[in-house]
Amino acid sequence: MKNTIKLIMVAIIGIFMVACGNTGEEKVSKVYVGTNAEFAPFEYLEDGKTVGFDMDLMEAISKEIGIEIEIKDMAFDGLLPALQAKKIDMIIAGMTATEERKKAVNFSETYYKANQVIITAEKAEDIANFDGLKGKKVGVILGFTGDVVVSKIKGVETKKYNAGYVAIMDLKEGKIDAVVLDGEPAKNFVKNNEGIKITSAEGEKEEYAMAVSKDNEELLKKINIALTTLKGNGTYDKLLKKWF
Ligand code: ARG
Repeated sequence: MKNTIKLIMVAIIGIFMVACGNTGEEKVSKVYVGTNAEFAPFEYLEDGKTVGFDMDLMEAISKEIGIEIEIKDMAFDGLLPALQAKKIDMIIAGMTATEERKKAVNFSETYYKANQVIITAEKAEDIANFDGLKGKKVGVILGFTGDVVVSKIKGVETKKYNAGYVAIMDLKEGKIDAVVLDGEPAKNFVKNNEGIKITSAEGEKEEYAMAVSKDNEELLKKINIALTTLKGNGTYDKLLKKWF
């Protein structure tokens, strides 16, 4: 009789623990990943799906960690506020880990090195460095590091755009003299548009990293371990070859 009571007690405790979700490691929680899918080849929309290097990398990381992810596409300058408001758990968006942003969020290890470049009309004279933008009308994308870089140069008339392709359209129509953008997306625009080129000016190195909110050390640690694994086992290199 005593044993039966004991057994019932254990069963009740067991049921109670499961009901409370106390199943330890097996619990799979969804991680919301913010991006801005207007940054090919890192992230862009294709048939309504977000694709690109970052998306493949994120997919590989999620498999490595064993998490389920959901991509949330939004305006680039809305990403950090969304992360701080806990509407998303992390960001992967070709985002440069700047000192300014580090005050608000934590960044993972670097997963890509990039730099700003200057795009002009094909027939325009070459611009050898960023100071050469002085006296010119320059398009930048709102909230991108290119915006910050150009605003530091005195005597430049900047025009801010919500998306890269709109700036490129204006450049092609001669409404602006140049567009400052990250190297890979710039190459992509030049490849897909007639009459524009990348000048020889090279901006400072920037490092792309994933952002996680300051109080989520746990997720950050897992991301960094996964990134190291993927760099070590050839997955990361395979993705580089696929996209660049
Ligand atoms: N690297 C630049 C920055 O951090 C531009 C990133 C834009 N990314 C995007 N998915 N739209 O500001």
